[in-house]
Amino acid sequence: MTDNILDSDSLRSSINESISNQKRSTVTVLSSLLAVQDSLHYIPDEAIEEIASFCKVTINDVWSVASFYTNFRFTPPGDKTLDVCWGPSCHINGAQKLITKAHDLLDIEGEGESSDNKVTLRYSTCLGACAQSPVFAIDHKMFGKLDEGKVETLIDTLKKE
Ligand code: FES
Repeated sequence: MTDNILDSDSLRSSINESISNQKRSTVTVLSSLLAVQDSLHYIPDEAIEEIASFCKVTINDVWSVASFYTNFRFTPPGDKTLDVCWGPSCHINGAQKLITKAHDLLDIEGEGESSDNKVTLRYSTCLGACAQSPVFAIDHKMFGKLDEGKVETLIDTLKKE
């Protein structure tokens, strides 16, 4: 989140707050990683250190858990998330061409962040709105029955926000 990148002290303080405020009876490395990701939307290096210290384990122990789960991300996400669906209904209705268009307009290859970190593009196997296919979503808001022109407008708006 470009506007929300914290300095190191604030980051550590935010991480420690997330770890300490867990409402579970058993706090584990995994629950702490989840708490940090829920709060910051990624796992910074500082979180690995703070979780190791809090859980009284080694940094390697924390890394081995963090790297096992593909849902953890280790870089800050973009300010906005664009989910592009390549599931069966969307695929049949021309999603691939639209995804290529989104890649071109955002200058992103595959999944990832735009160079200005304003947008994170993610693939989805179904956004649950197949009747509206092809579908994209911006921060979980759906846009269906897309064509190239609509994708262009959508991404123009996204870039200006
Ligand atoms: S396959 Fe794209 S919304 Fe279901």
